[in-house]
Amino acid sequence: MIILGIESSCDETAAALVTGDRQVLAHRLLGQEAAHAPFGGVVPEIAARAHVEALEPLIVAALADAKLTLADVDAVAATAGPGLIGGVMVGLVTGKALAHAAGKPLVAVNHLEGHALSPRLSDSDLEFPYLLLLVSGGHCQLLLVEGVGRYRRLATTIDDAAGEAFDKTAKILGLGFPGGPAVERAAALGNPKAVPLPRPLKGSAEPHFSFAGLKSAVARAAGDYTPEDLAASFQAAVVDCLIDRTTRALGRVHGATALVVAGGVAANGAVRSALQALATAHGLRFVAPPLWLCTDNAAMIAWAGAERFAAGLTDPLDVAARPRWPL
Ligand code: KG4
Ligand code: ZN
Repeated sequence: MIILGIESSCDETAAALVTGDRQVLAHRLLGQEAAHAPFGGVVPEIAARAHVEALEPLIVAALADAKLTLADVDAVAATAGPGLIGGVMVGLVTGKALAHAAGKPLVAVNHLEGHALSPRLSDSDLEFPYLLLLVSGGHCQLLLVEGVGRYRRLATTIDDAAGEAFDKTAKILGLGFPGGPAVERAAALGNPKAVPLPRPLKGSAEPHFSFAGLKSAVARAAGDYTPEDLAASFQAAVVDCLIDRTTRALGRVHGATALVVAGGVAANGAVRSALQALATAHGLRFVAPPLWLCTDNAAMIAWAGAERFAAGLTDPLDVAARPRWPL
């Protein structure tokens, strides 16, 4: 089984070819950082136009990399939301057109499901159910992944997502865009105990997240400390919150086969090592996708498409793009 995956929900345009037995035959990606950097964040209209320009050549290149044509593909999977609606429409309409022209089924993939199932692409031993910490630029959730299309949400953020907090902190500290990797680099040079910062919701009964107060505290402390110490202290506070909340959720789930992290913030080394230690302390396997599979890409969309297609879940060509679409 060969699936073509298309991703265009935020600021990465991507196309990939993935097989049902977990081979990534090709994956191509074009980031738009340079186009958005002058604005310090993603500008939806600029993103949508950039997807229009980039997507078709990326699909052609991915097919060439894999030495395949559309005729070899079993289904076309495209992100149908959630995300910036202009970009989602570009990818979904392209997917529909290719599926229609080649007479192949379409799989409309929830971007969050792409992240949620991505660890099963890189780890063939990962079985359902697993406790997933999904940490990206738009989301921060704890989910019990029980099967394809079966996600039980245990917690979410009551304000900002973790990645959003990284991006805003980078902006406050003048570290540039995108923020997560820049904060991680600066943090490596700073003292995580230098700045006293709050741990919002730490210790609260429900395993929810909150990061808005942390970001405001960074803004108030800026100027009194070096950017490196602020970055290190901020990152330590985020890790503390993620671990506390995940520990709380672990107390509520039974029979999970592993503790799993996915989404852009899962690329952070401090986050990964703290979760690894937590899993070990609970006698659980820890699974984290390789860094390239954590941040947005089309291989995870192709893989979610493969899992859905194998389960008989395809979509009609009039399926709508959804800017909001909870798992
Ligand atoms: O999953 P993703 O690529 O896009 C969304 O679906 O949101 O996640 C992007 C987010 C951004 O907020 C980015 O700053 C963050 O992931 N991120 C990181 C790192 N790499 C990306 N945050 C912390 N440390 C990193 N190394
Ligand atoms: Zn994402």
